[in-house]
Amino acid sequence: MVKIAVLISGSGTNLQSIIDAVQNKEINGEIVLVASNRKKAYGLERAKNAGIKAEWIKDEEVLIKRLQEEQVELIVLAGYLAIVSEKLINLYENRIMNIHPSLIPSFCGPGFYGIHVHEHAFKRGVKVSGATVHFVSTVVDGGPIILQKAIDIKDAKTPEEIQEKILNNVEHKLLVEAVKLYCDGKLEVENERVIIK
Ligand code: GRF
Repeated sequence: MVKIAVLISGSGTNLQSIIDAVQNKEINGEIVLVASNRKKAYGLERAKNAGIKAEWIKDEEVLIKRLQEEQVELIVLAGYLAIVSEKLINLYENRIMNIHPSLIPSFCGPGFYGIHVHEHAFKRGVKVSGATVHFVSTVVDGGPIILQKAIDIKDAKTPEEIQEKILNNVEHKLLVEAVKLYCDGKLEVENERVIIK
């Protein structure tokens, strides 16, 4: 059973999708820790409601200690808005997953987070966008891509509409699928590319 930690900063709807998938046994794993860099993140409430350890952790050294204490194998960044240090990335090489709300390499990198991603997509007038789940490397949003899914956004009238469509129609399912693949031992990384066995 893979021990999973989920790092959040906000409402935690992506976290909730993982909690639900673990509870209905779609994911062969156990969430042993939910940590947030923001004290008021609603995602911490979601974790508590599910009986999962939910902790506000500001300092990365404390976070690393807690991850090791809980013997975490896979870290999932689900709307985590703090920078992940090289130290943490090296400790968990190809064992930190992130979900980004665009089709990387479009609309990603420093400054592209939350609604800003969709503002750029809206302004550029792209007709499709979507989400990407990738392993975290020292290059922001630059790690090996695990899964991507595109959706039609040509009728969207605002960036918020794009965000809502991608979050609810793509992200939640895509992140669960990626975590499931990892827990089923089906992900391999060769030369920075992910092979799904
Ligand atoms: C959303 O903006 C999502 O696109 C991105 O980070 C945020 C997380 O939302 N991955 P939530 O906290 O999971 O609801």
